[in-house]
Amino acid sequence: MTTLTTGTPPMHTPDVARRGLHVQGLCAGYGKALVLENLDLFVPEGQVVAVVGPNGAGKSTLVRSISGALKPRSGSVRFHGETISGLASHQIARRGILHVPETRDIFGGMTVWENLMVAFDNLNEPGNHKSAFDAVYELFPILHEFSSRVAGNLSGGQQQMLAIARALIGRPKLLMLDEPSLGLAALVIKDIYIALERLRKTGLTVLLVEQNARMAVAFADYSVVLANGAIVLQGSRELLAADDNLIHHYLGGTARQTA
Ligand SMILES: Nc1ncnc2c1ncn2[C@@H]1O[C@H](COP(=O)(O)OP(=O)(O)OP(=O)(O)O)[C@@H](O)[C@H]1O
Ligand SMILES: [Mg+2]
Repeated sequence: MTTLTTGTPPMHTPDVARRGLHVQGLCAGYGKALVLENLDLFVPEGQVVAVVGPNGAGKSTLVRSISGALKPRSGSVRFHGETISGLASHQIARRGILHVPETRDIFGGMTVWENLMVAFDNLNEPGNHKSAFDAVYELFPILHEFSSRVAGNLSGGQQQMLAIARALIGRPKLLMLDEPSLGLAALVIKDIYIALERLRKTGLTVLLVEQNARMAVAFADYSVVLANGAIVLQGSRELLAADDNLIHHYLGGTARQTA
């Protein structure tokens, strides 16, 4: 399929001098199956870039290849000029790339406070956890209220908030969110996006993966549509919003269209 690019600068010719995440010629897959083939992506510092696409498009494979959960077959991933592809996931996390996976991966048997404490301990830095905890409690007050609850007993939305909070405790420079709205009610999704908007205002760089294309494209500064492991459309929010049919044409009508 031809790649249609709307808006500038084209993501497949990234300006290597600019700070941010540069993915170039990325190939990744599982066993004999190649999922991503020669993929290029640029996430400029301080911007929100969305990756949307139908089931099985390779969205999670992409974020897993960046976070080190999956070792890329070839290609390069650079963050602020440093090559990070090939590093172990804890080394990539230490460079400020934090990944909230689709599965959320919270410790269900631990309390909210203990989950946050694990993230704080992982930082392996001296100092008190209080100011870091206060910041995430301010963003998600329900986590403060339920700090002594066992995480496994929280609602799906509260668990998603905890998963994001845990990543924030790790002081991300790039936060990668894999389907933060998955399985959640519209009101909860709204709360999560309000929190993401506040984070965006702090200058945080975000790579947002969503099946809910309409919502993600409206939120992100720039979006790419992934289908069968390749980018088939990309462009700025303004340009993609100008033709609502375009993105849904490329999604093949499979994307959920929650307003
Ligand atoms: N652990 C795995 N082992 C083998 N194949 C996998 C594995 N994980 C994903 N795949 C396959 O890789 C392809 C891309 O999957 P991926 O999870 O990256 O898609 P996705 O865009 O995140 O989809 P979804 O919207 O359902 O989350 C699919 O064909 C999937 O079946
Ligand atoms: Mg996925």
